Amino acid sequence: MESYKRLLQANQDWVEQKLSLSPSFFKELAKEQKPEFLWIGCSDSRVPAEEITGTQPGEIFSHRNIANLVNPTDINLGSVLAFAVDYLKVKHIIVCGHYGCGGVKAALSKNRFGILDEWLRQIKDTYYANQDEVRDAGDFDSQADKLVELNIHEQLRNLVKSQIVQKAWAEERRPTLHGWVYSLNDGRIKNLYKIEPGSHIHRIYQFDFAAP
Ligand code: CO
Repeated sequence: MESYKRLLQANQDWVEQKLSLSPSFFKELAKEQKPEFLWIGCSDSRVPAEEITGTQPGEIFSHRNIANLVNPTDINLGSVLAFAVDYLKVKHIIVCGHYGCGGVKAALSKNRFGILDEWLRQIKDTYYANQDEVRDAGDFDSQADKLVELNIHEQLRNLVKSQIVQKAWAEERRPTLHGWVYSLNDGRIKNLYKIEPGSHIHRIYQFDFAAP
């Protein structure tokens, strides 16, 4: 059997399983979506948001790209963010990176990756802003994992600086921002950062990071 056919067969099985638990499962789901969470994660196939968080269809609105970047000029991310915050009224935005991230390793390496280098530029900037801390982490893989954490922090800063988040904070005191890191080695999520709504537009470059 060709590999892709396995996916279609599994889908049939999944539908039957859901219907056996609740005959109206799809009817209910089709009515509307009211997710509480916006997930910004890496495209890496080993970090499936729903599976690692035990969530069901309808619970997470998601955006994934290489190395979970919040790039202010990315119209794709911008549209997802606007829709999630303005229309779906999500309560939480989770930026979830992962140790062993190929995108972060590529950014840290001296190799060339074509168009990907353009995408990863922001991570190189984060590296240069925190060179000592990254170098002190140890070997290449440990340095990359330190940069993974710093990158998540940087993406939260980008969210704080966005006018969409600033507006929702000022008007509705939501969403709360979270920075998580997933470990490929043991499957566990580490809760790194949490930012409550509060920074006003005047204080845009002041950040209060509470313990998670
Ligand atoms: Co990755």
